[in-house]
Amino acid sequence: MQNIQSYIQTHKDRFLSELIELLKIPSISADSAYKNDVLKTAKQVKISLEKAGCDLVEICKTEGHPIVYGEKIIDASLPTVLVYGHYDVQPPDPLDLWTSPPFEPVIKSTKIHPEGAIFARGACDDKGQMYMHVKALEFMTSTNQLPCNVKFMIEGEEEVGSVNLSKFVKANHDKLKNDVILISDTGMISKETPSITTGLRGLSYVEVEVTGPNRDLHSGLYGGAVANPINSLAKMIASLHDENNHITIPGFYDKVEELSNEERSQMSKAPFSLENYKAAIDIEDVHGEKGFSTNERNSIRPTLDVNGIWGGYTGEGAKTVIASKAFAKISMRLVPNQDWEEITQLFKAHFENIAPKGVKVKVKPHHGGQGYVTPIDSIGYQAASKAYEDSFGKTPIPQRSGGSIPIVSLFEQELKSKTILMGFGLDSDAIHSPNEHFGIWNYLKGIETIPLFYKYFTELSR
Ligand code: BES
Ligand code: MN
Ligand code: MN
Repeated sequence: MQNIQSYIQTHKDRFLSELIELLKIPSISADSAYKNDVLKTAKQVKISLEKAGCDLVEICKTEGHPIVYGEKIIDASLPTVLVYGHYDVQPPDPLDLWTSPPFEPVIKSTKIHPEGAIFARGACDDKGQMYMHVKALEFMTSTNQLPCNVKFMIEGEEEVGSVNLSKFVKANHDKLKNDVILISDTGMISKETPSITTGLRGLSYVEVEVTGPNRDLHSGLYGGAVANPINSLAKMIASLHDENNHITIPGFYDKVEELSNEERSQMSKAPFSLENYKAAIDIEDVHGEKGFSTNERNSIRPTLDVNGIWGGYTGEGAKTVIASKAFAKISMRLVPNQDWEEITQLFKAHFENIAPKGVKVKVKPHHGGQGYVTPIDSIGYQAASKAYEDSFGKTPIPQRSGGSIPIVSLFEQELKSKTILMGFGLDSDAIHSPNEHFGIWNYLKGIETIPLFYKYFTELSR
């Protein structure tokens, strides 16, 4: 029977060229101009699942972009793994900062990926990582080594909040019934230090609108005598953190889970170089909540960040004007036990409350989701850990991530199963940024590790 390493050696060029074809389609879920490309991507994912050995694959329509569902049920008495991933991508802008066009994938080598990395929007998040599962399935079915049942659910709206997937999950408990959910949509510490993501942060995303006078005004004639909505917005935003970088919204921290000293000291053992961290993003110093380390600040602590701010004149040259309106998009990353809808309400009440008299404030909630933590003593975690031990020769480190995949907590709530986050990306892969890429080594390592998870999960479930 052929082993996975030799299978990868034989087929790796095809594994790369198939992924490159998928990356060429601009499946930007946020922009309705790309609706057909999103659909085209779904169809290509469907074909790939059929070729990889699924017995049933369907494109499930939603009110938004479709969900691709596939399955191979070999024996109802065996365990079932549900693979989740997404085929939609973030918008690629700013385009001028890409060294090659975002939807014309090319392989280039980098310091971290001397063997080469595929540069394209979605290379790592999440087409590349999702496709590892398709190729792992191909290996298992074509060499007769699939040890259990498998279901695939690949959506096209992760980057816009998974609203329609939530409805689909709620309406399809039986169809989606499983023993464990497996996702590759996160990262690991480094190629030398494998890790398994054990936590995700929740999210509350809002947009604010500050209105001053009923029209744009001459900044000389009116300046100094009326509230400038941009000045007011800037001041209000600045007041959301105190001098210790604590968030000032009343009640914001009430439900935050405080980790024990033991848990924090465990966390601090993960390899981390502050010097490399700063050098990689070219900053002189880090910044954040007093009393917490960098790794704590970006995983176990909640945050508030402005994602975009606009208003007034931003064109060429100068225009002397007091704008009528100013806007900002603000995200709050949440930790387990903080409820995203409650936090959204707290934000809204506070932001309206701190507005100076001369302006009106509107807060529009966007989307959100709960955080997630998974125990490390579950069968799923143990199976994943053994899989990494085999493929990396090292025990993976459990690590909580700062990112969000809001649907994961809904999976647990609706489908009553644990999610295992086997991510193979690196922080340096520039997801959501210009020049996103995914190391070929990481891609192939993922394909190698996934079948081992199936094997150990099936064994440990007996
Ligand atoms: N795959 C990411 C999330 C991620 C990346 C988690 C790396 C952990 C490590 C996902 O596609 C994503 O970008 N999620 C969004 C939230 C979503 C509601 C738009 C995020 O975290 O900003
Ligand atoms: Mn993703
Ligand atoms: Mn993403």
